[in-house]
Amino acid sequence: MGSKAVKMFGLILVASAAAAFSATAAENLQSRSVAQRQQDMEAMAVAAKTINAMFKGSSAYDAKAFKAAAATIGSRSGHRLSSLFDGSVTAPGSKASAGIEAERDQFDKLAADLGVYASALSAAADRNPDVFSPQMRMQGGDAMMG
Ligand code: HEM
Repeated sequence: MGSKAVKMFGLILVASAAAAFSATAAENLQSRSVAQRQQDMEAMAVAAKTINAMFKGSSAYDAKAFKAAAATIGSRSGHRLSSLFDGSVTAPGSKASAGIEAERDQFDKLAADLGVYASALSAAADRNPDVFSPQMRMQGGDAMMG
């Protein structure tokens, strides 16, 4: 091989290694997002159960626990929730539907609305430190699911 050819060969090797690296890095990043969003959803489901049990009266009202559950949901909604679905929504191991990409605005709005709702719950817990008030109940639709 002439020196030009060696250089060219070297460049090709470097370029293909870089391409392989960035493909792997992107895949790792994506699977981390999928794991993270599923973990967040599970945490929100536990929090929603806590809140629901107090709504229904099947567990005793505890303003601190209620507020903590609202915070668990609040910190995992809005921008954080949306950004975990940035890039390619569908991915191995994910149950997310491709329809999300087509209705991205609606998706982001649901994520933001959940954040607003969680802070309303948190404020309601502050206003009602001792006794559950019927006004704390969900005013709109039921919990949103993926
Ligand atoms: C308190 C409200 C919510 C609860 C309790 C909840 C609960 C859950 C649960 C239990 C899962 C299954 C997670 C797993 O596979 O391990 C899930 C998945 C999902 N949720 Fe939620 N969710 C809530 C709000 C939302 C909102 C507001 C959105 C959209 C804006 C959303 C979008 C999704 C999507 C797309 C998936 C599939 C994720 C994936 O597999 O990649 N969820 N949710």
